[in-house]
Amino acid sequence: MPLLRQIAQLGHPVLRTPSSHVTIPVPDRIRELADDMLATLREAAGVGIAAPQVYEPLSLFIVASRPNPRYPDAPLMEPEVVFNPDIIERSDELVKDWEGCLSIPGIRGQVPRHQRIRARYQTADGLVVEREFAGFVARIFQHEFDHLEGLMFLDRLESTRDIITEKEYQKLVAR
Ligand code: NI
Repeated sequence: MPLLRQIAQLGHPVLRTPSSHVTIPVPDRIRELADDMLATLREAAGVGIAAPQVYEPLSLFIVASRPNPRYPDAPLMEPEVVFNPDIIERSDELVKDWEGCLSIPGIRGQVPRHQRIRARYQTADGLVVEREFAGFVARIFQHEFDHLEGLMFLDRLESTRDIITEKEYQKLVAR
């Protein structure tokens, strides 16, 4: 049975620790970690979670896009469990849009991200995947990838004026 994990909050040093490579094929302990992360993500109704957010500085995250008020056209996808990722291409085009983070409750920020990326990563069984992502899914991928490098979305803001509270954000998306 997967366990719900505690989510590290902004200020905890694990969120600023660069992640270590995961050995492939993935050991049982790490498979259990991935299952726990998936359960924790569902419980929190998030669209992505990275291992450092559950106090494990390992190169692993989950991308799980689904339609939401801000991105009604976001694809509903099977959660993708990503090991040892690399972003190998980034479009020149940057798009600024709202993000939140389970480790920074109560605020949202408008973050510039590349509109399209090409990524290479491994599956739990050691398959190497090369895949292109665009729009909202590319945004999630870049956000989670940053967590593996000890970066938070706050580090990507152009201005502190691009931060708003969750309450104000909810008013915005309800319009
Ligand atoms: Ni986050």
